[in-house]
Amino acid sequence: MTYETIVTRTEGPDSRQVGIVTLNRPKQLNALNNELMDELGSALKAFDADDSIGCIILTGSEKAFAAGADIGAMAQYSFADVYNNDYITRNWEQIRGIRKPVIAAVSGFALGGGCELAMMCDFIIAADNARFGQPEIKLGIIPGAGGTQRLPRAVGKAKAMDLALTGRMMDAVEAERAGLVSRVVPLDKLMDEALGAALMICSYGQPSVFAAKEAVNRAFESGLSDGVMFERRLFHALFATEDQKEGMDAFVNKRKPEFKNR
Ligand code: CAA
Repeated sequence: MTYETIVTRTEGPDSRQVGIVTLNRPKQLNALNNELMDELGSALKAFDADDSIGCIILTGSEKAFAAGADIGAMAQYSFADVYNNDYITRNWEQIRGIRKPVIAAVSGFALGGGCELAMMCDFIIAADNARFGQPEIKLGIIPGAGGTQRLPRAVGKAKAMDLALTGRMMDAVEAERAGLVSRVVPLDKLMDEALGAALMICSYGQPSVFAAKEAVNRAFESGLSDGVMFERRLFHALFATEDQKEGMDAFVNKRKPEFKNR
C-alpha cells in the first residue's frame, strides 16, 4: 500500500517480521494532520492483522519524530469546527487498539501531539538528540491528545506541570531520568536499538507478549488489587498455551525454545 504522509516497510526473517512506520512530512517536521493520522491508523491496523508481523516500530526523521499537531491546519478552526467534528484528534486513540507492541523510536523533536503520540506507544527508545515537550500553552491551548493525562503518569505531577505550564522542552537524558523513555542511545544507533528490541519481542510467543502488554496497560486503568487480579488471571491462562509448555521445557532441557504462538 502506498501512503502520502508515511512510509512503511518490514525487517527481519520472513516468519517474524518487524513492521516499521516512518512519519514522512519532512517540510513540516512531521506535523500531524488528519491525513497522516488516518494513514498511520491504516498502516498500524494492517500490521496488527498480519500474522508475519510480531512487533511494530513508529519513527520519524533525525530532526523530528513529530513537532505536534499541524498548526497551519488548525489555526482557523472555531470551537464548533473542533467540537462538532472532533477535528485534530478524532482518530488518535486508534493506536491504543493495536494489540501488538508498538515501540516509538524518537529522534529530534517530539512536541505537543508528537510527544503524545510517542506516549501512546508501548515504550519509547530515544536518540540522544531527542527533545520532548508539551508547548501548547504557547499557542493559547493545552495538550489535546492525552498529554495532560499520560505525561503525569509517566513522569509524575511536578515535571508534567512544569512542562505543560512553561512549554519548555526536556532533553533525552532528562526524559530517561524522569521515566518517559526506556533507553537513550546515540542517534546513529537508534534504529539498530529499536530493531534489536523489536526482534527480541518477535522471538517470544505471541500469547505471552499480548498478555504482558495488556497487563502492564491495566496498571494505568485500575487500582492495585484489580490490576493484580487481572495479571493473575492472565498468568494462569498462559498455562493453557503450548508456548508455556515449550518455553519451560526448553529451559529445563537447556535448548532454545521454538514458540508457535499458540
Ligand atoms: N505544525 C505545522 N508546521 C510546523 C509545526 C507544526 N506543529 N512545527 C514545525 N512546523 C513547520 C514550520 O512552520 C516550518 O515550516 P516553513 O519552513 O514552511 O516555515 C518548518 O516546519 C520548520 O520549522 P522551524 O523553521 O520552526 O524549525 P526550527 O528548527 O526553527 O524549530 C520547532 C523547530 C522548535 C519544533 C518549531 O518548529 C516549533 O516550535 N514548532 C511547533 C511546536 C508546537 O507548538 N507543537 C504543538 C502543536 S499543538 C498540538 O500538538 C496540539 C495537540 O496536543 C494535539
